[in-house]
Amino acid sequence: MAQSILIIYFSGTGNTEAVCRHIKTAFESTDATGQANDKCEQYTVTLMRAEDYLACDENQNMTFDQLGIAYPVHAFSSPPIIEQVIRQLPNGCDRAAFLLYTAGDFVRINQMAGRKVIALLRKQRYKVNYERLIVMGSNWLIGYDDAFNSRLYQAAQIKAEHMATQLKQKREHRYHFVPVMHHGGWLFHHMEKLGAKLFGRLLYTTDACTRCGKCLKACPTGNIQRKNDQIQFRGKCQMCMRCVYQCPVNAIRSHGLQWMILKKGYSIEKIIKGACGKNGGSAIDKTLNGNKDGNKAGDQTALKGYSRHFIAYFDDIER
Ligand SMILES: Cc1cc2nc3c(=O)[nH]c(=O)nc-3n(C[C@H](O)[C@H](O)[C@H](O)COP(=O)(O)O)c2cc1C
Ligand code: SF4
Ligand code: SF4
Repeated sequence: MAQSILIIYFSGTGNTEAVCRHIKTAFESTDATGQANDKCEQYTVTLMRAEDYLACDENQNMTFDQLGIAYPVHAFSSPPIIEQVIRQLPNGCDRAAFLLYTAGDFVRINQMAGRKVIALLRKQRYKVNYERLIVMGSNWLIGYDDAFNSRLYQAAQIKAEHMATQLKQKREHRYHFVPVMHHGGWLFHHMEKLGAKLFGRLLYTTDACTRCGKCLKACPTGNIQRKNDQIQFRGKCQMCMRCVYQCPVNAIRSHGLQWMILKKGYSIEKIIKGACGKNGGSAIDKTLNGNKDGNKAGDQTALKGYSRHFIAYFDDIER
């Protein structure tokens, strides 16, 4: 019998969603690596956006064997919408759950991003045996160049496949709890939560706005409304950046907090295109690691400056 896995994910700008899709593909594929320990097991994976889960009247009646929760790291923790989702889950009856988080860096403090979620899941009687942080392009404050974003995306595909293989093999993977980092991160997280509400109120549209309504439909929290044919933002924002980067005419700005928005915008579609194009549109380079200069075999993108700090991440599939 096929094992059913439900992955509920939140993704502001598409990074987490892209990684979830790779995990689904890897889970459902029947290649030899995936079946290393359990040759008969088949999997069906359902991906569901957090906002759709919250809007679903039947969410308490969903049936699944294993639960996955995926989200971007926001100030070393989870976005509030994930807590809302967990509070609405049916009783887990000690079922297994796993966590995936994407972030713009692999610094150790990001590994604390699952702590609160794990505690909340425990209350709902889900047992988290596996958590994994996968780095994608940063969509906030400091962005990377296109080539580096593509390279992170390539590595993310390999790491997602590895994650699915380990989950199929029932392997456990939990990050060590570092109290100082956890408490420091908690402080930032609460500042960011307040900051997000403020950010929402400070958003405005420039004269370029065509009132197309795309941002209204895109916002996961219903923070954007149209009043007297004007686009208005309120205080329910989670600072996911979706509206800002998806506006077709780049008309959304923030009074005072504009520096949090990447000047060049952020597009996962563009990154995926860049990463696939480099490899002829399909196969990715299966080697994560490079030589000591940080150059990946067959890849012209040398790691320079800050990105050299990622050598360890590219070197080791477990990081
Ligand atoms: C409000 C906000 C806070 C963030 N905080 C962190 C952080 O603490 N650490 C980090 O490495 N990346 C941080 N990021 C970057 C995102 O975690 C990263 O780009 C993620 O992959 C975005 O995923 P998404 O496209 O699914 O939303 C933050 C992004 C936003 C918008
Ligand atoms: S997506 Fe951009 S152009 Fe369309 S209504 Fe929103 S701000 Fe205006
Ligand atoms: S207003 Fe924009 S940044 Fe805030 S939650 Fe909605 S889509 Fe995300």
